[in-house]
Amino acid sequence: MNTPVPTPPSNRSHGALSTRFSQRFGLRLPVALAPMALASGGALSAACAQAGALGLVGGGYGDLDWTRREYTLARQLGAAAQAEARIGCGFITWKLDQDASALDWLLDQADEALPRALMLSFGDPRPYAARLQARRIPLICQVQRLEQVPQALEAGAEIIVAQGAEAGGHGMNSLNGRATFTLVPELADWLAAHAPATLLLAAGGVADGRGLAAALALGADGALVGSRLWASAESLAPAGAKAQAQASTGDGTARSEVFDILRRKNWPAPYDFRALRNPLHRQWESRIEALRAAPEAARAAYDQGVAAGDFNAAHATVGEAVGLIHDCPPAAELLQRMAEQAQMLRKA
Ligand SMILES: Cc1cc2nc3c(=O)[nH]c(=O)nc-3n(C[C@H](O)[C@H](O)[C@H](O)COP(=O)(O)O)c2cc1C
Repeated sequence: MNTPVPTPPSNRSHGALSTRFSQRFGLRLPVALAPMALASGGALSAACAQAGALGLVGGGYGDLDWTRREYTLARQLGAAAQAEARIGCGFITWKLDQDASALDWLLDQADEALPRALMLSFGDPRPYAARLQARRIPLICQVQRLEQVPQALEAGAEIIVAQGAEAGGHGMNSLNGRATFTLVPELADWLAAHAPATLLLAAGGVADGRGLAAALALGADGALVGSRLWASAESLAPAGAKAQAQASTGDGTARSEVFDILRRKNWPAPYDFRALRNPLHRQWESRIEALRAAPEAARAAYDQGVAAGDFNAAHATVGEAVGLIHDCPPAAELLQRMAEQAQMLRKA
């Protein structure tokens, strides 16, 4: 399964994986790097773009300095590999509502330096629609439920990402979250009936060629991949977190508000967060209200863990796909493996 395969010549395309999404963005495989806050930096985004995927820089909470630095790096590295046309960016929408300076900076770029696509997740994208349209930037909206799709289409989304609750990082809590395996075909049917030109990506649990082939079989035009590319050589995730993830199985994650409270992130309901279920998480997961009421001691333990690189306390953000992650190679190798396996399955 994880036998290393040679990196492909940069111009090789994966014919059986050609989809509306790959054609629309000039990709060699129908995959987008998830814009993972603090992990999808310039090097990872450029590596994915060079390998033929759409490389979305993780603008996350909209830190202007971080976004400027990493997006600029992605474009520089991408230009050196003639892949800058596959570099985009993503933001957390509710956070943009408080501070949109990083988005403002991106939208002020010269035409040739604009992101190839912009992804908005977790909030109402409509306030940003006109400015994106004015700069002709394709909008990608990540949703977790069918009922969110009309709002995304009203905002002009060209691409809907259907995110299942298996996904790493933020998503909908257990009362509201859906599974990738049912959400994707339901959205594919809905879009075919109501907005047939809109493209669909599956997110949540796609970590190898089986997942990519399954996403296509379920009716998606491609996949948005987070966790698997988080565990790559170029990802900015801490080495200790990547090591902890490789030692875990897919049973080892949980979705809750624990780490958002510990990290002082005021995420709005109904979102919560999937990460490795480490000892500090276990200590508080059944006492969320107590943690919320008096978080100081737990926050001190968490802060100490972060400072020491101790992931028994600090969080390692990864989804259920962690059980399929056994190494941490360059992104190009991961994407090549994924493409070859998916292509084989599509032809079978
Ligand atoms: C480390 C990490 C950070 C993430 N940060 C963001 C983010 O800032 N914005 C966003 O839209 N999604 C974020 N996500 C969720 C991804 O967009 C995507 O839905 C998810 O990674 C797909 O599931 P997978 O992890 O199983 O591939 C993050 C995911 C991970 C693993």
